[in-house]
Amino acid sequence: MKLSSKIVVVTGGTSGIGLEAAKLFRDEGATVIIIGQNPARLQAAASELGDSVTLLRGDVSKPADIESIVEQIRQKFRHIDVLFANAGMGLAAPLEAVTEDQIDAQFGVNFKGVFFTVQKTAPLLAKGGSIVVTTSFLNEVGAPGLSILSATKAAVRSLVRSLGAELAPRGIRVNAVSPGPISTPFHGKLGLSETQLNQAASAIEDQVPLHRFGEAGEIARAALFLASDDSSFMTGSELVADGGMSQF
Ligand SMILES: NC(=O)c1ccc[n+]([C@@H]2O[C@H](COP(=O)([O-])OP(=O)(O)OC[C@H]3O[C@@H](n4cnc5c(N)ncnc54)[C@H](OP(=O)(O)O)[C@@H]3O)[C@@H](O)[C@H]2O)c1
Repeated sequence: MKLSSKIVVVTGGTSGIGLEAAKLFRDEGATVIIIGQNPARLQAAASELGDSVTLLRGDVSKPADIESIVEQIRQKFRHIDVLFANAGMGLAAPLEAVTEDQIDAQFGVNFKGVFFTVQKTAPLLAKGGSIVVTTSFLNEVGAPGLSILSATKAAVRSLVRSLGAELAPRGIRVNAVSPGPISTPFHGKLGLSETQLNQAASAIEDQVPLHRFGEAGEIARAALFLASDDSSFMTGSELVADGGMSQF
């Protein structure tokens, strides 16, 4: 049991990587709290995760929502040991089609959401606590149509270093897990047609040195390593789990 008696918060815990992480962390002994915004997906996650997991609803792009969630956590649990700041979204568009709203939406969730989640949970984090942030292989690899999503993740990679340095004196570690292309509902929300998605999927399988999409559970296990004391001498770093996509 790597997270025995730990209190763990997972944002974006209703789907994909966050949902698999919530299951794994629960099975490793943690008391798990997940955050999502979509009521139907929260409901579905509730039946999948069972009664021992607490579900809270909020939009991480709204600091007031995060504040209210953190207050609920403070009242019920008093402190947090692990934060997995994983909620994220993306919108695909080529240079000429990118709009201001698309930029605000992606930076709102992926950057502002992570920043304020860390800022507002930090007072509850215990000494020895661990923050894990989900970045992306897109930090390192240029992909047509994903310029803004990639930039949000590069910004968050930078945050992990800065916030790691700020929180180190309190004994709190901050690291990133960087997934490659993973089979989750994420891709279906990019705004691409079925044909475009299928073309992108076969191009990705060609590009990934291991010639496949990763599974959400593979990223959950990397996040578990960073969340637990197994990574006790790591902070400010990024653990890449991308089938070699950014390495060769
Ligand atoms: N899948 C990939 O290929 C891939 C690759 C690299 C990095 N990542 C990163 O991995 C993380 C998880 O993505 P995933 O693949 O697991 O996608 P996913 O299945 O679409 O899950 C995304 C999660 O984020 C939550 N979320 C999105 N916007 C939110 C908001 N405004 N407020 C609160 N929660 C919000 C969603 O909740 P709702 O359903 O309630 O909206 C959902 O639980 C993201 O940060 C993503 O950028 C994914």
